[in-house]
Amino acid sequence: MRKLMIFLLGCITTSLSLAKEVSFKQDILPVLMNRCAICHLKEDRHGYLVIDEENAYAGLVNIPSYTLPSMKRIEPGQPDKSYFWLKITDQHLAVGGKGWEMPYMSSLSDAEIQQIHDWIMNGAPDN
Ligand code: HEC
Repeated sequence: MRKLMIFLLGCITTSLSLAKEVSFKQDILPVLMNRCAICHLKEDRHGYLVIDEENAYAGLVNIPSYTLPSMKRIEPGQPDKSYFWLKITDQHLAVGGKGWEMPYMSSLSDAEIQQIHDWIMNGAPDN
């Protein structure tokens, strides 16, 4: 039992220390502006999610998702409980979500997805 506990603790610390330092303004926001803003600039039918320089952070972190209000768009520290994360990794239908993988008709690179994962793991700071 103790061995199992130590093993699990090891897994948790390893996954935490693997999360690299990521800046929202320098690393994440440019991706959102380049790949998402074209459809998400206005609060309308696109899931009522507004992505622009000023509102992106406030509209994502700790905000209930429009489609699945029981889940936040971004739950700091928990990518698997973040609807935004599930949408960009095509896992949203499995939790009762709707619609398409984001970005619609396209996808982010593995490196971009990894960076967003690390940023959420780090607590999704406004840095
Ligand atoms: C070509 C247009 C288009 C692009 C580009 C796009 N989206 Fe969307 N997005 C939509 C539409 C339409 C919906 C509503 C239908 C749905 O949920 O799939 C939506 C819904 C969403 C939702 C659900 C919001 C909620 O609270 O329910 C999230 C999260 C989201 N998009 C994230 C993104 C991200 C992140 C990107 C960029 C990586 C992106 N989208 C790029 C069209 C787009």
